[in-house]
Amino acid sequence: MIKKVLFVCLGNICRSPSAEGVFLAKLNELGLNEKYHVDSAGTGAWHVGNLADPRMRKHAAKRGYDLVSRARQVEEEDFDEFDIIIAMDGSNYRNLQNLSPNGTAELRMMTDFCSAYQSDEVPDPYYGGEDGFEHVLDLLEDACAGLLDYLESK
Ligand code: 4NP
Repeated sequence: MIKKVLFVCLGNICRSPSAEGVFLAKLNELGLNEKYHVDSAGTGAWHVGNLADPRMRKHAAKRGYDLVSRARQVEEEDFDEFDIIIAMDGSNYRNLQNLSPNGTAELRMMTDFCSAYQSDEVPDPYYGGEDGFEHVLDLLEDACAGLLDYLESK
């Protein structure tokens, strides 16, 4: 059975498209692509249809990740479609809970899967400086490794 994974942040132009790109790269590396369907979405609709933020794409590209997804807004049906939905911060998590209080998808925080970093969220880099984008990628690389271990052991 294909496992369906959805990453969610606020705008779907910084954190969640990067999580998607990092997770896809890990799957590629390990030859596991066929076993997964990976997507990302935002709780907000401001950037629907857009590529990831150019700053995020630049920092991701430096580490070899090509971010190609276009922003979309998360919808209630995603809770039936996906097996696991992963929020980047507490606000995303609460918005997702409100969108589908009885959804079947497992709802988790991205930082639940970190092991090298101790953080309770992947902070929004949008209004900050360059190092915020690097920090997002550090957290996501750590969390994606833990997430893949978790999903493969289930
Ligand atoms: P993201 O970052 O949630 O990681 O995609 C943001 C992108 C845009 C905005 C906020 C956060 N915004 O306010 O437009």
